[in-house]
Parts: sequence; C-alpha cells; structure tokens
Amino acid sequence: MSTDESAVLKSGGKPQVTMEKLVGLCKRRGLVFASSDIYGGLGSTWDYGPLGVELKRNVKEAWWREMVQRRSDIMGLDAAILMHPRTWEASGHLQSFTDPLVDCKACKQRFRADQVADGRCPECGGELTEPRNFNLMFKTFIGPLEDSAHAAYLRPETAQGIFVNFGNLLDTQRVKLPFGVAQIGKSFRNEITPGNFIFRTREFEQMEMEFFIPPDPTQEARWFEYWVELRLGWYVKHGIEREHLRLRPHGKDELSHYSRGTTDIEFLYPFGWGELEGLAKRGSYDLDRHAEFSGKDLTFFDEEAKTRYRPWVIEPAAGVDRALLAFLLDAYDEDIVEDEARVVLRLDPRLAPIKAAVLPLLRKGGQVEKALEVRARLQPHFPTAYDQAGSIGRRYRRQDEVGTPWCVTIDHQTMSDDTVTLRDRDSTAQVRLPIAALVGELNERIGWHR
Ligand code: GAP
Repeated sequence: MSTDESAVLKSGGKPQVTMEKLVGLCKRRGLVFASSDIYGGLGSTWDYGPLGVELKRNVKEAWWREMVQRRSDIMGLDAAILMHPRTWEASGHLQSFTDPLVDCKACKQRFRADQVADGRCPECGGELTEPRNFNLMFKTFIGPLEDSAHAAYLRPETAQGIFVNFGNLLDTQRVKLPFGVAQIGKSFRNEITPGNFIFRTREFEQMEMEFFIPPDPTQEARWFEYWVELRLGWYVKHGIEREHLRLRPHGKDELSHYSRGTTDIEFLYPFGWGELEGLAKRGSYDLDRHAEFSGKDLTFFDEEAKTRYRPWVIEPAAGVDRALLAFLLDAYDEDIVEDEARVVLRLDPRLAPIKAAVLPLLRKGGQVEKALEVRARLQPHFPTAYDQAGSIGRRYRRQDEVGTPWCVTIDHQTMSDDTVTLRDRDSTAQVRLPIAALVGELNERIGWHR
C-alpha cells in the first residue's frame, strides 16, 4: 500500500475525512464497536452495531441484486465455513497461502518480511531473523481429539466452497457456459499485520463470484475486461468517486499461487491506495486440482463443440468490510446549514441504514400520535426511525450524521389536512405532500431499480 498521498481530496476539493474521525463517528452512533470492548478489545476485531449491521446488509444486498438476482447467468450458493481438510491441500493453500515472517531478536516482535524496509526491527532497530513462511489459515480440530487426523481449517476464501460444489451444480442445474456462481460469507486469515480499522482484520466477509468460461485465451481476455468494468461501475454507481478508484495489475512475482493474471481495484483510503477488490484469472487451476485430489470427474460437456473440458474461471472477489469502509469514507461530509456546522453521511439511499425518520414538530396537539401512525405506515416498507427528543434542528442533524436520506415532519398543518413535510438530507430542501403519497414517493426516490 502506498502512503504517498498526503491529503485525499474529494470532488469540490474538500479533504477526505480522517480515519480517526470516522472511527469516532462509527463508535458514537453505533455503527462499529471494538470487539470485546469491556475486556479492552481484541486487537483488530470489530463488531457491527445496530446501524452498522443495516449498512452491511445493504452493501451485501446491493452486490447480490447486481451479481445474482438481476442476471440469468449467475446463481447463488452458501457453503459451509468448515470444509474437508483435503480441500486446502488441493487448493494449494496449505502449501502456498503464506506470508514471509521475521522476528526481532531483541524485542521479539514479529513482522511481515516484505513490510520491513531496511532489514532492522521497525520498533527497536534490533536484528531480525531470516524470513520463514507462516501459514495464514486458522487451524482447529473437529471433534474432541486434538490430533493431526482431526485438524481442520477455517476457510481463508469463500471460493473453494464453489469449486468443490462444481459437480453438484452441473448435476442439478441446467447450465451452459459461460455461467457464474456467487457466494457471500465469512473468511478467516491469521494476518500478521491487521489494522486500519475494518480494512484488514482476521475475520472478515467476502463477496465472491466464480465465472466459468470455455478454456480459451480470447474469451478469457474479453470476460476479464467485462468484469473489471462492471465491478468498477458498481462502486461508482453506489457512491464512490471515480477518482478514488484505480486499477492495478499485479506483477508476475506477486501473483497468488492460483492466478494467471490479477488486477486489483484499489481505493484511495486516508492512509493511501489499497486493495478494495481483486479480479483474478484462475484458469482451470482449482478444478484441475480438485479433480486430481478427489478423483472425481469435474469436466463440463460442451454440447456445441462436442468436447469435454474443465472450464476456466474469472473471479471478482470483493470484501464486504472494505467496501463498507470505502462507502463511509466517500459519504462523509461536513457543511454549514442555517449557520450551523453539521456532519452528513451522503450515502446512496439504497445503502443508508435507515431510509426515513418521522419527527413530530411539537409534543402536543396530537402530533406524537400522528407521527407514530406515520411510522407504522412506513415501517413495513423500509427501516424507519422515530425521534421526538430535542429541537427539530438537532433531530435533523442526528439523522444527517447517520445518513438517513429523508426526514418526515409532522406539524400543526398535518393535524388538519394529513400532509407532512419531506426534508432531503443532501439539499435540505423541503416539500409538502399527503401522508398517503409517502411510501410511493420514498420508494421512487430510493431508486431500487437503478
Ligand atoms: N478468492 C480470492 C481472494 O480471496 P483476495 O484478494 O485475497 O482474493 C479478496 O481477497 C478481497 O477480500 C480483498 O480485495 C479484500 O476486499 C477482502 N479481504 C482480503 N483479506 C482481508 C482482510 N484480512 N480483512 C478484510 N478484508 C479482506
């Protein structure tokens, strides 16, 4: 990751929020908490609070809608985290999913060898050991016996659940190439240097899709370009600034053991450019290896060409937590409204944890009861908040800060004509409309179909 960018500018020339401020907001408003906080936290592990979990679900749903539900060539899968240990021998992870590690002989701290610039300990300047390979998979045991015959691993990528099910999918689904299989789920890596909030953690969630194509370099090149463009567009369409994204092809020496070519979609975080999503050409590596290790026939019969082969794979692999971090960073803004400074999360309405907040202007004249009635009308359609505490300005500000796109205000006039005001988070503009029109108007504005 490069840290050469001293200030990340948003469009309009404003500086991007610092990590410190964002982490503060996440904690204060219940988006993300340090895990096991009461015990002092567990390094680089995080829990998503009530608003964070909504945001996270929305990120995953936006991906699933685009990658599975709106297409006819991709299907979903939800495989177990624990898999037969042979999986990881076959996939190459047992042997090759390692980071080179060095220990400081003086202070005993450990570092990734490729992150130590001058061969001395970055903490105390002490002498370092020779690098040795450290496997990133978390090991555990199945059943009560803790011996090597019962060892198992927490999956380090969701992808293998798809490859080992390839035969099941061919047997049960009517497919023709190209087709894809998508999965969202937790993955685990015993990272040596986790950090930067939810950017790099040991337990995280992935959104991966394996796209199977005929074994042909021309088709591979075409489909790879297609998926890079589509994935890039997905981030932009959901609120990431295009200038904060770039493509970085991997050099030959940094390719994963399974890859014939990889391009990362990188995002400009406050700490520099870093990976957001990786797109890899996995060829037939995984199916070949699983066929070899399982003895099963994992070939596909191509009706048109009348031949059998193991398809090649293009894989867009995204991180839920990293995507969520990037969406938050680009949504965060500070401006002045009616002479008062405010923090506003300009999240895409589809991602916003809460779509609307209902606010009675006064706590009398039947406005509270009316407001609760309006909330009950909206709630079956989307997450809706209710707030009656404090001045109306302060209540707007509270919603702005967590990205609620619209506030519905109940006032004196509502009591006589059943109309409300609808305030827009970004422009703060208000319009008046009948209560009966609210659900339709809000669904239209959320723009689910986009
Ligand atoms: N199946 C291919 C694969 O796993 P990867 O580039 O290692 O590829 C894909 O991971 C994505 O998963 C990354 O782009 C990142 O968004 C996310 N990811 C990987 N390691 C992570 C970690 N330690 N913490 C958070 N997200 C991580």
